[in-house]
Amino acid sequence: MLKRSTVALLLSLLLLASSVQAAVEFVYPAASSWVNRTGHMILKLNQIDLTAVRVTVNGVASELIDVGSPEYRKLFQDFFVAQAIWDEGRNQLQVDLFNGGQKIETAATEIYYTPAESKRQAPPEFVANVMHVPEKERPCAACHNMKASADQMSSNSEKSNPCFGCHRKLVNVKYVHGPVGTYSCGYCHSSNSNPKYKVLKRNATLCNQCHADMAQALKKRKFVHGPVEAGLCEACHDAHGSQNESQLIKPINELCLSCHGHIAKQAHVVRTTTGEGHPLKGKPDPVKKVSGKEMTCISCHNPHGGQVRYFFVNNAEDRMLLCQMCHNK
Ligand code: HEC
Ligand code: HEC
Ligand code: HEC
Ligand code: HEC
Ligand code: HEC
Ligand code: HEC
Ligand code: HEC
Ligand code: HEC
Repeated sequence: MLKRSTVALLLSLLLLASSVQAAVEFVYPAASSWVNRTGHMILKLNQIDLTAVRVTVNGVASELIDVGSPEYRKLFQDFFVAQAIWDEGRNQLQVDLFNGGQKIETAATEIYYTPAESKRQAPPEFVANVMHVPEKERPCAACHNMKASADQMSSNSEKSNPCFGCHRKLVNVKYVHGPVGTYSCGYCHSSNSNPKYKVLKRNATLCNQCHADMAQALKKRKFVHGPVEAGLCEACHDAHGSQNESQLIKPINELCLSCHGHIAKQAHVVRTTTGEGHPLKGKPDPVKKVSGKEMTCISCHNPHGGQVRYFFVNNAEDRMLLCQMCHNK
């Protein structure tokens, strides 16, 4: 009769034989998938006798990254997490596994990247990529909380918030949006939606839940700026935060010019003797002397709307009054 331990050994040998694992599993993004943000890259390394990894994207190779140390293994076991930076379009991704300086395995795939705002589609051979589906979450649950309750999703400390550990990049920016700064992820992300963590409302319908006073104020304005009228708050603001004041998705002039490109191509407001227009940047804004801000498009235009055409910041019909804000002689 076989002893119990032998049975267990046989069973595990059988399991090994039936599930010959690839040395590298592309967990996120999955192999041959399409991403529309440059986020994390997560690999599962199934080679046990492995000491280092090298990642090559479009011919640009990383240093050898140590994954063999006991400290690393204790924390991450066989997972490898890195920040990925994709080029637009096709990306050749190659992962080399090393043991003591000796290359032992290579795995490669192709990832297609289109920035979220580009609205371009990937060729059909690439599949859209989602992280929070059961089969991808399963291996994470050993170390991360993958079953966050509604309460936990809004728990307001770094330690107890179940999202922060993996999504700290959203919070580690210069200007963090109020409810993100307090880890109130559950205000906007549903805890029981399908797909998981879906944002149930978008743009003005979402924003006005908390900024209703602004919606009220806008209703009273005679002229409302096109994208604001359309409720497209996210065309200018990032819901989580950014490197720009008011969580703008781009620096202010760049943002305005992304829709009004012609302003940069002709003399704006005035034409000086040298043929140039009014300074729109690079000079101190006389009105905002105290805060030391420079001239930008919003030195003269209110970004949401106003009482006069072109939404001048001082809401005066008479153009001269606008000029006199800064040129009072
Ligand atoms: C063996 C334990 C373990 C497993 C399994 C694991 N992780 Fe982690 N992970 C960690 C530890 C430890 C950290 C770092 C501690 C922290 O920052 O909370 C971390 C951090 C992360 C980060 C943040 C990295 C950064 O840039 O700040 C991401 C993203 C992440 N893990 C994703 C995953 C995903 C996705 C899975 C499942 C496919 C997974 N991990 C499975 C242990 C693990
Ligand atoms: C184990 C790590 C981990 C944890 C914990 C985690 N996420 Fe994620 N999540 C990821 C990764 C990796 C992605 C892929 C995008 C990226 O690289 O950041 C992602 C993507 C998402 C997306 C985009 C849709 C999708 O499924 O790809 C949403 C929304 C999201 N996470 C919300 C949350 C919220 C809310 C929480 C907390 C309740 C949470 N996540 C906890 C790792 C994690
Ligand atoms: C004010 C509302 C709001 C709050 C609060 C909020 N989010 Fe989001 N989140 C959004 C919106 C809007 C999107 C865009 C959804 C999409 O692209 O499908 C989004 C997308 C995401 C994504 C996927 C896209 C990306 O940028 O990587 C992740 C991950 C995410 N949120 C995590 C979180 C986490 C973690 C928290 C809490 C710390 C949080 N969010 C708090 C509104 C919010
Ligand atoms: C859950 C409530 C909530 C939701 C939803 C919400 N906000 Fe906020 N928002 C706040 C809080 C709280 C603050 C910080 C208080 C403050 O600075 O006035 C804030 C601050 C801001 C600021 C910065 C104000 C400043 O003076 O710098 C902007 C811009 C902003 N929100 C835009 C948005 C946009 C755009 C949306 C929709 C995508 C949105 N908010 C959705 C609660 C919310
Ligand atoms: C065309 C780009 C644009 C759009 C669209 C837009 N905003 Fe703004 N918003 C800005 C800019 C620029 C500022 C900074 C104003 C300043 O610093 O004087 C701002 C400031 C804010 C502020 C903080 C200061 C204030 O005026 O109270 C809030 C809150 C805000 N926006 C909410 C919203 C909401 C809600 C929507 C959608 C209804 C929206 N924004 C749509 C560009 C925009
Ligand atoms: C997402 C695209 C978008 C962005 C970003 C944007 N605008 Fe606009 N803007 C429009 C649309 C659409 C209109 C209405 C159609 C038109 O008159 O051109 C408009 C109208 C205007 C007008 C009135 C034009 C007229 O002839 O009455 C001014 C002034 C203006 N925008 C200034 C700005 C400033 C300043 C910024 C940056 C804070 C900005 N816009 C950012 C789309 C945008
Ligand atoms: C010094 C004040 C001032 C600054 C700064 C300024 N504008 Fe204007 N803008 C005006 C005036 C005045 C008008 C009215 C039409 C005119 O006189 O050219 C105007 C008109 C416009 C119009 C509508 C007319 C048209 O040509 O489409 C748009 C759009 C516009 N501005 C966008 C911008 C953008 C984008 C910026 C930043 C790159 C900017 N403005 C910076 C004063 C200014
Ligand atoms: C928000 C402040 C502000 C407003 C409003 C404003 N300007 Fe200016 N203007 C400036 C600044 C700052 C300069 C640059 C001064 C310098 O070079 O030191 C400038 C320069 C000028 C110049 C000289 C350009 C050059 O390069 O020599 C003219 C002409 C001018 N403005 C006309 C106007 C007219 C006309 C209006 C009204 C339609 C106006 N400005 C509104 C701030 C403003």
